[in-house]
Amino acid sequence: MQTNLVTTSTTAQRGKAIARAVELLRRGEIVGLPTETVYGLAADALNPIAVAKIFEAKERPRFDPLIVHLPNREWLERIVGLPEKDRELIFRLADKFWPGPFTMILPKLEIVPDIVTAGLDTVAVRLSAHPVFAQIASALDKPLAAPSANRFGRISPTTAQHVFDELDGRIPLIIDAGPTEHGIESTIVTVRDGRIEILRRGPITAEKLSEFAEVGTVAPSEKIISPGQLPSHYAPETPLRLIDNAETYLPPKNQRVGFLAWSGRVTSRAAFVAIRYLSARQDLREAATNLFRHLRELDRLGLDLIVAERVPSSGLGAAIMDRLERASHR
Ligand code: TXA
Ligand code: MG
Repeated sequence: MQTNLVTTSTTAQRGKAIARAVELLRRGEIVGLPTETVYGLAADALNPIAVAKIFEAKERPRFDPLIVHLPNREWLERIVGLPEKDRELIFRLADKFWPGPFTMILPKLEIVPDIVTAGLDTVAVRLSAHPVFAQIASALDKPLAAPSANRFGRISPTTAQHVFDELDGRIPLIIDAGPTEHGIESTIVTVRDGRIEILRRGPITAEKLSEFAEVGTVAPSEKIISPGQLPSHYAPETPLRLIDNAETYLPPKNQRVGFLAWSGRVTSRAAFVAIRYLSARQDLREAATNLFRHLRELDRLGLDLIVAERVPSSGLGAAIMDRLERASHR
């Protein structure tokens, strides 16, 4: 299959790209689309055969459920049954964080095919704020199942080129709308009995959520709740080691080592084959948007080792550290 990568630089190109995506989705095909977090691989969530194509293209195991992206808030109660006692909290969270990088796992209704939820009785839902994604969902007027557009276990794509590198020849269309805004995947939570549990850390931090209810965080675990919680995930092919202090660290001799830097204080620049800075001005938002791109670039250099410096673990830093911990786990 030929994969078309189309740009959206002009209004005309954008209109054409959106129309093409809607047409393909209507026919039960899958397309690579930008969201505000990472690029997604989308299918009509109510068409099980279309959804099966996502699993095939990504080589994703069928036990790993997908996130469903709603065209609008009205669709929420067509997809999920809201528990009466959590209804108000769920609405307040939706009012505050939708559209945006925030996913809630809620009890599913019959209409959601089992393949989407891997047979679970819950479904993950979110509403994307990306203008291209939003326009496509709204023109289709169907919820879209869309995981990150990478092959299973690999680093999430933050540019259309990354999607192309991962899925060339496997999907008919990728829409390029530039690098994504947040650079890491949405925050995933469950809301139950008035409590919020964070299953995957992301742009909506525990600090922000604690304004709404008591917040807990489920630690990554071998006992599977969702594969996004497997300790090893988002992994580059090159081994990655985390270090605390770049000022005192010296890489092993006779090894080709790359460095993913936070502080900028490196002992010996010459000791590294390549250095990438997450954020020269030590801004966690900027660091998040650079994280996966830098990891991908370092991963392509054929290094023996990538060394990554820990970032402060408050706010968005916790989500970045979560990705780095998993990338270092093998
Ligand atoms: O930002 C994002 O969330 C991106 C963009 C494309 O929307 N999507 C994304 O999807 O990261 P994916 O499939 O790569 O990650 C979704 C995670 C997976 O770890 C999956 O196991 C978990 O959500 N998940 C989905 N449905 C679930 C459910 N019902 N219960 C528990 N975990 C669930
Ligand atoms: Mg993913």
